[in-house]
Amino acid sequence: MTSDIHGPEGLVWADRSFLFVLGSSRADGNSEILARAAAERLPDGVPQAWVDLNTLDLPDFQDGRHETERLPGGPVEAELFKATVEATDIVLVSPLYWYTVSAQTKRYLDYWSGWLAEPGADFKQRMAGRTLWGVTAMSDYDERRADGMVTTLEYTAAYLRMRFGGVLLGNGSRPGQIRNDDRALLRAESFFAGETPFASFPLEQAVR
Ligand SMILES: Cc1cc2nc3c(=O)[nH]c(=O)nc-3n(C[C@H](O)[C@H](O)[C@H](O)COP(=O)(O)O)c2cc1C
Repeated sequence: MTSDIHGPEGLVWADRSFLFVLGSSRADGNSEILARAAAERLPDGVPQAWVDLNTLDLPDFQDGRHETERLPGGPVEAELFKATVEATDIVLVSPLYWYTVSAQTKRYLDYWSGWLAEPGADFKQRMAGRTLWGVTAMSDYDERRADGMVTTLEYTAAYLRMRFGGVLLGNGSRPGQIRNDDRALLRAESFFAGETPFASFPLEQAVR
């Protein structure tokens, strides 16, 4: 991709920064390989941050939204919050596990609920207008079986009034096998240049 200053729908590349959130339970997995292939095509100068949830000491989310006494979050949560609100584009890089995102990815999304309720965090306002993307590897050849994951991400984006760039799908089981999926690697080349409409729920017009 050339480093033109306008991305999809006139979004200015120069103002954008990508956070890749790795959600596999193994290192160097297929979903990461596919995400890195797509990231290589981002214009030079677009900042990329990569965080691997599997290596972070992040406890399960505890729902304290309705408690009067809030326990302070730990440093890992703080680091994730900062990385999230600093990015214009959040890329959830998760293998397909049981037809949806991995537990690591889901746990990260659960923290979003805490941040939504955190006084002064302005999480909803800050996320509105940003873009959510997904990258996944799956062993099944029938990509319709990833619909549950796609819906999860699309509705999450709709709830946060974000744009949704879709989910880049690839096939693989053993680590590295995704390199044999020529179709996925081809799609990766132009994935981040794709349309990013505002996400919406069914029968609801996208809120801008
Ligand atoms: C816990 C678990 C659940 C899985 N569930 C599915 C599934 O529902 N559908 C599917 O096609 N593949 C499933 N797989 C296979 C993985 O998606 C596949 O191995 C993928 O390449 C893993 O990506 P990674 O290398 O990035 O971790 C599952 C694998 C594991 C370990």
